Amino acid sequence: MTSTLVTGISELVTCDPTLGDGSPLGIVHKAALVIEDERVAWVGEALHAPATDTQTDLEGRAVIPGFVDSHTHLVFAGERSAEWESRMAGAPYTGGGIATTVAATRAASFEKLRAHTQSLVEQMRAQGTTTIEIKSGYGLDVVHEVLILEVARDFTRETTFLGAHVIPAEYAGDREGYVDLVCGEMLQTCAPFARWIDVFCDTGAFDEAETRRILSAGRGAGLGVRLHGNQLEHGPGVRLAVEFAAASVDHCNHLSDEDVEALAASDVVATLLPGADFSTRAAYANGRRLLDAGVTVAIATDCNPGSAYITSMPLCIALAVREMGLTPAEALYAATRGGARALHREDVGRLSVGAYADLAALDAPSYLHLAYRPGSQLVSQSWRRGTPG
Ligand code: NIG
Ligand code: FE
Repeated sequence: MTSTLVTGISELVTCDPTLGDGSPLGIVHKAALVIEDERVAWVGEALHAPATDTQTDLEGRAVIPGFVDSHTHLVFAGERSAEWESRMAGAPYTGGGIATTVAATRAASFEKLRAHTQSLVEQMRAQGTTTIEIKSGYGLDVVHEVLILEVARDFTRETTFLGAHVIPAEYAGDREGYVDLVCGEMLQTCAPFARWIDVFCDTGAFDEAETRRILSAGRGAGLGVRLHGNQLEHGPGVRLAVEFAAASVDHCNHLSDEDVEALAASDVVATLLPGADFSTRAAYANGRRLLDAGVTVAIATDCNPGSAYITSMPLCIALAVREMGLTPAEALYAATRGGARALHREDVGRLSVGAYADLAALDAPSYLHLAYRPGSQLVSQSWRRGTPG
């Protein structure tokens, strides 16, 4: 067993309220942290640090938990910049472009999809992300949905079966036939490669009855439930997420008071996707309203070629502060511990004893710089499972 003391930390954000200043971020000043193999073995003031095998001096940098990006669609081919350009000129986002990405993804090889996913994962790592959830949903047939999940599995254990993204063109006249396929052969083939099931429950995608059928089948196959809900219009997404005790309901742009109350009374995390609102020119989801009601909030990138071709969690934090009413502290918590909650994980998203040593050092004295200096490359170094790089 090797132990490393990381010292010279001006501000250590633990996201453990039992530590440091006792705030939700659990901030320790003039701090140090000990990594033993893959885990955090000690945190506290540098003055009291124990002896270790090796040492790294961060010379006054802030350290935060690695970001937990709990919502991405990273496995895809092609791009949709022309669609984005038309949105910037006023065209609405409808999800109709998903078919373009499905065609490009079906035409790509496993190796090509894997290499492209790898490049996106590397971009995310360079910006401090250490845990990534990845959804399928650009295959929409048995062969390609499972292929996407196999690619995703090479990068994360947080894989999500999203066969119910939209109805593919070949089933345009037979919605029920497609839902049968998703709940039948596609689910059976994909479930061994997935931890979660997700449905795009919204206008133009899947309705309440279809969503209910698909989530029930997924749960029956042993998958945990998550949901895309209430992005384009008000609908049954949040209500169903609460009914199914989903880990998370994501987007949450159009919520009634009943939705907010139901979320607050449940363990369902509301995952906000500021990058999607930015890139679709949608009105930003009201994060303040959710937090004030007592809802647990996460922030994720939603990285995909249509609604949010964005790999940067720091950018999402800056947008959440500027546009969704979160304080910088709430935004950082949502991007770390909140994301972990949305994945039912206690071993990531915090820097306290026993957690994975997933951390990012910032070229700044405080985490505040994440939202204060948007667009800067602030992450100077990161560790995942105790390994730098
Ligand atoms: O989360 N809303 C549905 N799915 C994705 C977008 C997919 C796409 O446009 O390619 C989302 O925003
Ligand atoms: Fe999404």
